[in-house]
Amino acid sequence: MPLVVDQSPSAATGIRLSAVEKWYGSAQQPVHALSATDLDIAAGELVVLLGPSGCGKTTLLRMLGGLIRPTHGDIAIGSRTLWSADQRDGTSMAELGLVFQEPNLFPWLTVAQNIALPLELRGVPAAERIRRAAELAALVGIQGFEQRWPRELSGGMRQRAAIARSLAHDPRILLMDEPFGALDAMTRDAMNLELQRIWMATGKTIVLVTHSITEAVFLADRIVLLSPRPGRIDWICPVEFARPRAIELQSEGAFQALASALRKRLQAMA
Ligand SMILES: Nc1ncnc2c1ncn2[C@@H]1O[C@H](COP(=O)(O)OP(=O)(O)O)[C@@H](O)[C@H]1O
Ligand SMILES: [Mg+2]
Repeated sequence: MPLVVDQSPSAATGIRLSAVEKWYGSAQQPVHALSATDLDIAAGELVVLLGPSGCGKTTLLRMLGGLIRPTHGDIAIGSRTLWSADQRDGTSMAELGLVFQEPNLFPWLTVAQNIALPLELRGVPAAERIRRAAELAALVGIQGFEQRWPRELSGGMRQRAAIARSLAHDPRILLMDEPFGALDAMTRDAMNLELQRIWMATGKTIVLVTHSITEAVFLADRIVLLSPRPGRIDWICPVEFARPRAIELQSEGAFQALASALRKRLQAMA
């Protein structure tokens, strides 16, 4: 059954994985990173991939991003095929924005130039790039810092700039690999709130990888819990707390009960 996708430019887009499997290594020393995985992600959904270190989360996200080739299986971005029988159709990659654990800003470019880089690569004129960089800086909460150098920003602000850059070409889907893993706990809470706000403001589809149970329960519409290597989907857990969610939710009984159920499930798999 094809995904039903609204083709209007501002619409979000869903993702479908069919029997996606990944092996690394050589024939002599194969590494089975991900077992055959089926998953449907709805347009506008915020899905969190949660699992222990080495279970294949980054592998899965990079296949979704078109960066690495599945060994078997198909991936569709909306109505377009991204991977089919290890052939890539790169046209759907324009729908994707990527955020990694390290912000990877270019130190010789200002914050605004970093944010607008994807637009420069697409030939967008300077005046429009400046306007868009200012708009995105405001969206992620770093307005006023556009002319600074990355080294003048805190870790949290650099990651905000990286999120702004990932949104510059207005992708329908954001893929985020442990984007707040390098931040201290308080900054991480603040960034979780900010990401929720950005997601609610933009309606993007988001797939976020984390190994933090708290982050997963706080952010997700659905948590996809992966088993240790070779990763496979162990549990898909809907998270139904009303939005916007406040940090105080984390100390409520229902939140802690869900976090504790996930922790037990993770421990049982270890
Ligand atoms: N390029 C590679 N070659 C061989 N093995 C790899 C490669 N990349 C990842 N792996 C292995 O695949 C498994 C999954 O890795 P990864 O997707 O990075 O896990 P996670 O992000 O969940 O920590 C790990 O056991 C890792 O060592
Ligand atoms: Mg990883």
